[in-house]
Amino acid sequence: MDAKTDAKGKAGTLTVGNKNWDFPVYKGTIGPDVVDIAKLYAESGMFTYDPGFTSTASCESKITYIDGDEGILLYRGYPIEQLAEHGDFLETCYLLLYGELPTPAQKVDFDYRVNRHTMVHEQMMRFFQGFRRDAHPMAVMTGCVGALSAFYHDSTDISDPHQRMIASIRMIAKMPTLAAMAYKYSIGQPFMYPRNDLDYASNFLRMCYAVPTEDYKANPVLARAMDRIFILHADHEQNASTSTVRLAGSSGANPFACIAAGCACLWGPAHGGANEAALNMLSEIGRVERIPEFIKRAKDKNDPFRLMGFGHRVYKHYDPRAKIMQKTCHEVLNELGIKDDPLLDVAMELEKIALHDDYFVEKKLYPNIDFYSGITLKAMGFPTTMFTVLFAVARTVGWIAQWKEMIEDPKQKIGRPRQLYTGATRRDYVPISRRK
Ligand code: CMC
Repeated sequence: MDAKTDAKGKAGTLTVGNKNWDFPVYKGTIGPDVVDIAKLYAESGMFTYDPGFTSTASCESKITYIDGDEGILLYRGYPIEQLAEHGDFLETCYLLLYGELPTPAQKVDFDYRVNRHTMVHEQMMRFFQGFRRDAHPMAVMTGCVGALSAFYHDSTDISDPHQRMIASIRMIAKMPTLAAMAYKYSIGQPFMYPRNDLDYASNFLRMCYAVPTEDYKANPVLARAMDRIFILHADHEQNASTSTVRLAGSSGANPFACIAAGCACLWGPAHGGANEAALNMLSEIGRVERIPEFIKRAKDKNDPFRLMGFGHRVYKHYDPRAKIMQKTCHEVLNELGIKDDPLLDVAMELEKIALHDDYFVEKKLYPNIDFYSGITLKAMGFPTTMFTVLFAVARTVGWIAQWKEMIEDPKQKIGRPRQLYTGATRRDYVPISRRK
């Protein structure tokens, strides 16, 4: 098979044997061109085969752009470094949802609208109480976010733009409340109601760390770090959980249920679960002297061990989020006076060794964001099981912005991939008495 795009980028020719088919080639504003093979099956009777979707653009999107070779990440055209340095998370949410940065008046209005939706229905408490206290908080989150679909019936008509926006704002507002409840439930402390006079990150930290018997004021350095972690994780184009949300939403499913599907996907160790796995790995390594042993294992084809927090499907260069996260990590450790953290020593040395090791250099395996976010979150007092939950809080805006974009796309249709079937061909049923 030989697919080519012509020099002018107008048509792609697919040649199989002595047959040719022409397909349109589209140019994005930046990034690789795409060949539109939507009519391939109708015209040739063949499917394309691309396990893991490494060469497949599943949709057209205007939200997030990644150049993995150059280490660039743009939200609506704005570099992640600038947003993390100068912006705040709710401003980033506005940008992802509406496409532009808010004016001061729009920002005040948006913050107010999000704040007004931070409480969850009181009945939600009962859902939490149905879980074991030692349940993984991502199991609790997946269940409770799904349960939201049984509430809020006034924002589930997805054909109504107003209801879509209310559902979007509800999700962004309620995720921190649910996440903090999942944490409080796991440690047996009472739930703390949200406080709408606080900024998004400070409110979240307060719901996690305050108790009704004592006043709590979030440390501004930690609140800023939390906010930055939310910005860095807010969207990442068509990653596994976002594609899951789009696929679930493509059937017209309830928006809250779609976000629950995103949570389920995010939980996996190859995706959002990697920050938890990275920290567990650093603990397992334990001492700088043991690093070579683990590097050797990571390189061994017969050993399933991988260096968690290294490598990325798209970034074949330093993950730009990892650089910002590294700086934030140091700010947090400094603020908390953590000077000799053995995990940090292991992390620094591991990064140094891996960045110079031929195996990692050749395969372009750089530290990703999860490598540093785990250390930062641990220093801030979160147990490792909460790491993916925090990722889910941040990624909710990306999921919902991508879901909205899909619903609003006139070309939208239910997602339905095909397959290369290699199972048994037709055969007749054999009664059980005649089977050996
Ligand atoms: N340690 C050792 N070897 C690795 C690693 C690693 N962390 N990652 C990839 N490789 C090797 C892999 O064995 C393969 O080698 P070969 O070509 O000889 O078979 C080669 O590099 C390519 O790997 P791949 O699995 O085909 O690449 P992928 O694009 O399918 O996987 C990844 C990307 C992120 C799943 C993978 O790098 C990985 O498992 N990393 C560890 C988990 C992790 O940190 N995940 C967080 C991703 S960032 C957050 C997010 O987006 O959710």
